[in-house]
Amino acid sequence: MHERPTPALPAKPPFVVRGRLLTPLDDGGTRFEADGEVGVDSRGRIAWVGIWSERPAASQAEEDAGGPPADEVPIVDLRPWLLLPGMVDLHAHLPQLPNAGLGAGLDLLAWLERYIFPLEEAFDVASARTLAPAAYRAFAHAGTTTAVLYGAVYEPSLDEAFRAAEEHGIRAVIGKVMMDRVTYDDRLARDEILELSLRQSADLCARWHGRDDGRLQYAFTPRFAVSCTAEMLRESARLARETGAYWMTHLSEDRHEGETVRRLFPEAIDYLDVYDRADGLGERSIFAHAIHLSPREIERLRESGSRIAHCPASNLFLASGVMQLARYLDAGLSVGLGSDVAAGPDLSMFAQMRVGAYTQNALRTVQGESRPMLTPLEWLRMGSLDGARVLGIEDVAGSLEIGKDADLIAVDASFTAPLPGIDSDDPAELASRLIFRDHPDMVQAAWVRGRLLPS
Ligand code: GUN
Ligand code: ZN
Repeated sequence: MHERPTPALPAKPPFVVRGRLLTPLDDGGTRFEADGEVGVDSRGRIAWVGIWSERPAASQAEEDAGGPPADEVPIVDLRPWLLLPGMVDLHAHLPQLPNAGLGAGLDLLAWLERYIFPLEEAFDVASARTLAPAAYRAFAHAGTTTAVLYGAVYEPSLDEAFRAAEEHGIRAVIGKVMMDRVTYDDRLARDEILELSLRQSADLCARWHGRDDGRLQYAFTPRFAVSCTAEMLRESARLARETGAYWMTHLSEDRHEGETVRRLFPEAIDYLDVYDRADGLGERSIFAHAIHLSPREIERLRESGSRIAHCPASNLFLASGVMQLARYLDAGLSVGLGSDVAAGPDLSMFAQMRVGAYTQNALRTVQGESRPMLTPLEWLRMGSLDGARVLGIEDVAGSLEIGKDADLIAVDASFTAPLPGIDSDDPAELASRLIFRDHPDMVQAAWVRGRLLPS
């Protein structure tokens, strides 16, 4: 089925790749070109994208601007591979990868105690040094070029995670997990842990936020209300505001978790209000899960411009519940997708799209129709451009359009064929097979700013 020898892949910009082009567009809709190309300039930006036969002297323009001679820019023919924007994973846990696929059906809090806290407690520099580069390769292999990652609680392991991301080339938002209510170290008093966690997080932010011209960013990361005091939530949100970094946490993932939060924060109207009272809502705040929400919470999320990382596979894996996605989209919330590895068993964003689509199909059969089903092209948009929008980086990533960074992937769609030789040049059919018949080896290459990512 996959007999064609792998072409020599361009490792760094500038280059031109020819292939079948499939991308969401900023202004809505999708662009498909059966014979298209992406021209990447020497700074790693998309200088031209379009139909191969209409190719302008794009490289000539770059040569005129001081780039390399046009006839020296490598042109690589990747047909019949697809050229897509790199996928955006809005929520994953770096130290948890080794336990991916374990503990299905456990209650969230029991799963954390049994499978996660021991793993994260042991996540030192040595673990990070081994795991982080392998994890970034796995993301690239799955077609993810932007990853939003929770680390463990230890500052040095976060430096290691950032260093590895800097070296690998992936675009990443990373944060040290902050917890002062549930902790690993009972030798320190709670206020000492609070103080230490805030200081270390601020130091990490100072060292890494904005590194490599914004490719690496920092997120202040209080784990969730169950493991944090009101002071930790408030002070971490303040740091995020002051530094311009992100603030991210888990919200309303599981009913039992919700009951615990009600008990711990009796003054709050509901779960979201715990974060609202900490001044944690806003356009730089990313809430993972957010599946058991009242109409008030949905409206408050919208009003505050807060962002949602929808993690459909994780929600089914831990039997947490299902997101009523249509309500969120009707309300105008900004929603992208997250793998939530290791509560989600799979890194692939195509797998998140598939599980998300199945979940919404099932909801419709139970609840009746409210809004038209998302199409495969809309799911593809949610995993790429909508994810970039959640992060506020849609001007640099998320779609293949002129002026954005060349964060793109090449996919061999023959891996998704039901039988050898079956193919399509219909964009909706191509997207449908990428999602419903995705294959772990279908992504052949991933680039960020035109730099080939090790995978
Ligand atoms: N809530 C608090 N911590 C976690 C975590 O590590 N994974 C998931 N899925 N939910 C959480
Ligand atoms: Zn999570």
